Amino acid sequence: MRSNLSRRGFIKAGAAGMATGAAAGLVPGAAWAEKDAAQKVDLTAKPANLALPGVSSEPAPVWAYNGSVPGPVIKVRQGERLDVRFTNALPEPTSIHWHGLRVPNDQDGVPFVTQKPIASGATHRYSFAAEDAGTFLYHPHINSVAQVGRGMFGALIVEEREPVMVDRDILWAVNDWQVALGVVVEEFDNPHDRSHAGRYGNRVAVNGRALPTLTGRPNERLRLRLLNAATGRILALRLEGLKPWLVALDGQPVTPRPAGGDDLLIGPGMRADLVVDLPDVRGKRFRVIDLYDDRDVYTLGEIAVGDGKPVRARPLGRPAPMKANPLPVPDLARAERREVIFGGGAMGGMMGMGPMNMMSMARRGLFWAVNGRFDPKPEAGSKMEPLYTLTKGRSYVFALENRTVFDHPIHLHGHTFRIVSRNGRRLADGQWRDSVLLRPRERVDIAFVADNPGDWMFHCHILSHQMAGMMSVVRVG
Ligand code: C2O
Ligand code: CU
Repeated sequence: MRSNLSRRGFIKAGAAGMATGAAAGLVPGAAWAEKDAAQKVDLTAKPANLALPGVSSEPAPVWAYNGSVPGPVIKVRQGERLDVRFTNALPEPTSIHWHGLRVPNDQDGVPFVTQKPIASGATHRYSFAAEDAGTFLYHPHINSVAQVGRGMFGALIVEEREPVMVDRDILWAVNDWQVALGVVVEEFDNPHDRSHAGRYGNRVAVNGRALPTLTGRPNERLRLRLLNAATGRILALRLEGLKPWLVALDGQPVTPRPAGGDDLLIGPGMRADLVVDLPDVRGKRFRVIDLYDDRDVYTLGEIAVGDGKPVRARPLGRPAPMKANPLPVPDLARAERREVIFGGGAMGGMMGMGPMNMMSMARRGLFWAVNGRFDPKPEAGSKMEPLYTLTKGRSYVFALENRTVFDHPIHLHGHTFRIVSRNGRRLADGQWRDSVLLRPRERVDIAFVADNPGDWMFHCHILSHQMAGMMSVVRVG
């Protein structure tokens, strides 16, 4: 069966979701004509005025990749090389980080750590092979809360050789805007956001519009890629009245299971891929709600069953599992243990610092510490000394501890880790992730093989926290 939509290149945001795959019919795996090709992509970052339907009554002053928020969906096939020709037409330096992809260090897009900032007016090339399939994202890694907050993010989809079979492949990329009197305002950073839960906009958008409706047909099977591109907002989603299957987290396949528990607790930078079977109930609408803040539960979007003919006579069952990515499996018996303690923030006590010291940190906008160090350097313009230097090829357990009263989605560059335990309780599924959401006071052990040489960022993806000290570098040497 052939798809009549291009699997390649850019697909623009649609009204209800970004279709990222075939229009109709189950898409068979491995139906690719070409092999080992390179995908060439031109990206330009530039200020723009953009209509954000339902968000802003006037065109909003955004910063955008190729004129759209989210930026274009970049699609490559697993194993394919991505060649990006990037132009910075912003009024300040920027870079692009390929979040979740295990790229060579010099392609990782972190100014002052892996490359020089890309000056205003300059061009830069990125080139790497996409070894892992799944849902990833790209975004800048400098002045992050403002650059991402202004709209600089996009999805990077690496197509599996044998994807889960669906009728339609949809992306919901979520972000939020600060809106006053109906108009998007440019407010991104202040000491309160830095020291509390980060920047929360008051208007949430999916693919650039508020309250989208995704309409399908009875018994249609959708793949719904949920991507949280907000600067600070954590999502706790529920698809009311539907029974979605969880098929991947942070791009990494999981054995399909009914999405439940914390599966849809999605912090900034995190992704969850679902398979959603629409029931045979024409005209019915299902709300997708965000329950993260129980005093402010809201509808993120809707999924509606239109009155078309059913796609098939009866609903499909559990989807087949996708193949795991070629990740190095950590040897837990031999792994070396390293402690990483996250501290600071409002109401937290600043890691036993004296009040004078605390005040001087706060005056510099620093509120968070990793192992007692408050270090903003890559955002502020210089190299960072590593928190740990790891031996290439060795397995490590990082014992993470959140000594604050806030949630922190902690993200490691260049590697994909396994979540071993939470608060001492072993996790059965050994989930692979590039980020882990640490709940207040929680201890989480993660394990990985330090196989990718270079200096890698290890930081909180609440971007106000990242900029306020909750970042570090891990050296694999
Ligand atoms: Cu999504 Cu250090 O980044
Ligand atoms: Cu944080």
